[in-house]
Amino acid sequence: MTEKKPIIFSGIQPSGNLTLGNYVGALKNWVSLQDKYDCLFSLVDLHTITVRQDPKSFRSNCYDALAIYLAVGIDPIRHNVFLQSHVPAHTQLAWILNCYSYMGELSRMTQFKDKSKKNETNINVGLFSYPILMAADILLYGTNLVPVGADQKQHVEIARDLALRFNNIYGQVFAIPEVYHPPLGARLMSLQEPTKKMSKSDDNSSATIFLLDKPEDILNKFKRAVTDSDTEICFDIKNKPGVSNLLTILAVVTDRSVEEWTTQLQGSGYGKLKTATAENLIEFLRPMQKRYYQLRKDQEYLDSVLKQGAARAVDASQEILKKVYDVLGFIPTF
Ligand code: TYM
Repeated sequence: MTEKKPIIFSGIQPSGNLTLGNYVGALKNWVSLQDKYDCLFSLVDLHTITVRQDPKSFRSNCYDALAIYLAVGIDPIRHNVFLQSHVPAHTQLAWILNCYSYMGELSRMTQFKDKSKKNETNINVGLFSYPILMAADILLYGTNLVPVGADQKQHVEIARDLALRFNNIYGQVFAIPEVYHPPLGARLMSLQEPTKKMSKSDDNSSATIFLLDKPEDILNKFKRAVTDSDTEICFDIKNKPGVSNLLTILAVVTDRSVEEWTTQLQGSGYGKLKTATAENLIEFLRPMQKRYYQLRKDQEYLDSVLKQGAARAVDASQEILKKVYDVLGFIPTF
């Protein structure tokens, strides 16, 4: 009998081109953790509609994101790769968890506050209850570890709080998930405002590196990157956020330490730091981009991955959902 491994759940919103932040904060770690865990990697399309989507591009964005998952090296045979909307248990459990969540705790969420500011004309209830659906995603599968960037820490904490609250009343129903952040790059910063997170939806296109950016665009974005008026290359997030962000990217994509790069680039000036970062990133992305374009053409294969992933996730989602219904006293279906 094969030994049962601990469980990972994580997801990304397929709301457009994925960014280098998504890669460093999430995808890279999914790939490196997938040997030691049984993983569910979801395209969280239900979360995505908290902000208005154009139906046609939304559908194509979902396939784009799926092809990225596969191109970076996620193994869809060993693990579940699926669309959240294909597994009804996520919304079923989310409703129940709604009834155990408090307005106060949800209104404290940083992402809710940020997104409300950005979408003033559409502060919908989904945006507010977003962390509850995320908690359902995680708790539904007995998840032990949730690899995400630093911006999602608060949401994983809510999932933990809800699990503990529910277990306190009804006994041991949910596993208590731990958050996992990468040691370096848990929060990649905007290239234009390095005290702000690098984000998919930044209005300034020079602020964000997309995984499918062309080499010349990457080079230009780094050339324009904001540093500071000093010349010394050193890692100091507080006083040199721009330079520290570039060093982080450089270290992550070359698998070398920040210290090695700081020593190597000593006295070279920011121009050299920027071109070194751009060139190494371009080389790093090249094979991934090539695989992406091959995979993206193969609609039949992509659909087969989604079909298999959904079937397995639907199956896996039943045990805990049934248990939840049972402890709450619902009459089972006949
Ligand atoms: P989303 O789609 O905003 O981001 C996906 C993942 O990318 C990470 N990330 C970053 N990491 C480092 N630096 C950045 N600049 C950066 N930008 C994004 C995010 O932290 C995340 O890990 N709510 C989630 C999706 C979700 C989820 C889940 C995650 C839904 N259900 C269950 C884990 C488990 C979100 O909006 O991620």
